[in-house]
Amino acid sequence: MTASSVAHAAARAPEHDARTLIADRVAGQSLPAPFYVSRDFFDLDVDEIFSKSWLFVATEAEIAEPGDYVTITFSTRSVIVARDDDGRVRAHHNVCRHRGARLLTDPSGSTGTFVCTYHSWTYGMDGRLEFADAQAPGFDRSCYSLRSVHVRSIAGLVFICLADDPPADIDEVAAIVEPYLAPHRLAEAKVAKQTDLIEDGNWKLTMENNRECYHCDGHPELLNVFFPTWGYSDTGSIPSRLGPVYDRYRRVTSEQVEIWDRHDLPHSRIEQLDTRPTGFHVEREALDLAGESFTLDGSAACGRLLTDIGEARLGRLSMHLQPNMWLHVTSDHALVFSVIPIAADKTLVRTTWLVHRNAVEGVDYDLDHLTGVWETTNQQDADLVALAQSGISSPAYVPGPYGPSEFQVEAFVNWYVTMLRRRLDIPTTGTASDAASA
Ligand code: FES
Ligand SMILES: [Fe+2]
Repeated sequence: MTASSVAHAAARAPEHDARTLIADRVAGQSLPAPFYVSRDFFDLDVDEIFSKSWLFVATEAEIAEPGDYVTITFSTRSVIVARDDDGRVRAHHNVCRHRGARLLTDPSGSTGTFVCTYHSWTYGMDGRLEFADAQAPGFDRSCYSLRSVHVRSIAGLVFICLADDPPADIDEVAAIVEPYLAPHRLAEAKVAKQTDLIEDGNWKLTMENNRECYHCDGHPELLNVFFPTWGYSDTGSIPSRLGPVYDRYRRVTSEQVEIWDRHDLPHSRIEQLDTRPTGFHVEREALDLAGESFTLDGSAACGRLLTDIGEARLGRLSMHLQPNMWLHVTSDHALVFSVIPIAADKTLVRTTWLVHRNAVEGVDYDLDHLTGVWETTNQQDADLVALAQSGISSPAYVPGPYGPSEFQVEAFVNWYVTMLRRRLDIPTTGTASDAASA
């Protein structure tokens, strides 16, 4: 970053001595309270994390036709993601080039042009200014296109980056994860349902909560099919009460590997969560019971499978991407999550259920059956995040230790702190490793 942006960022966060807290972060522990509760850190997160990383913002299914758009808004930023007349996915800043009015105020819609409410400047889906009434002679419309935002789709998942120079490793990450995602044909899917849940917690608590299954006793419905041994890396650390489940997990996994291999589906775990700017994790895992879907008995909830593979028992493909997404894909549907910060203690969790585009509600699937387990799970997670935010807001809070099964929480926090150190030019004085490479 430039010297002036370092100075600007530092000047904004003197209250809690943010630079010292970032430099001193101790590996293996939850973060000090200001990271989760202060406005200074919220602004830092918006400026240094959410404005400089690749963000997952939509599925292509949400903008299936030319003219379809969604808007993504956080803090003072707002971005239009749209499909243009040629079918390309575009992203523009949602700011009129006349006198700056916000162009679109709806979260989604379909239109032929973007018309500014203020003085009717009108833009094409590609961002070019098409109409500006009563301008002086010589006015050159071509100079006033909407400011574009970097955008790219990975197997039907749309990512944007607001930085002038986005992290270049997105190409490497895409090359790794696309073979996992492509068989599920997400780009051709349709949205069965989308929910917006506002969690009463900092966005990092939302991400941290998703990175471990230590709390999974709080998800009795999900645990019908989700193995609660997730996150334990060796048998020695698995609690004895989970021993029988772990034995079943290993047996089911070996059966599942045979099926994946038979269909040439990549399934190895690849984990680069804090070793690159676009940190990620991808793998396939078995599901319990019927092993097909996130239902109470594990059987597929949609009769029309997403894939062309005529096999319902595919377990789940899971992927995490720093800083704001995770997904699960089963044979019959995909569940895609995005996390958008609203305030230091408020976070939007958007969940999108995708099914085959020709699947018919009421015929191929019952919507409540398809979404029930995760709608319940999402609310349970929201309640846990709110509990964490409440406790951390108390002056009595001090950081506590992560256990072995919380290694992905540590990886997320390490990635986050490493990005702040790098982007704010803060030397490391704590014990966390500064591992992410440029
Ligand atoms: S601010 Fe948009 S037309 Fe004037
Ligand atoms: Fe959870």
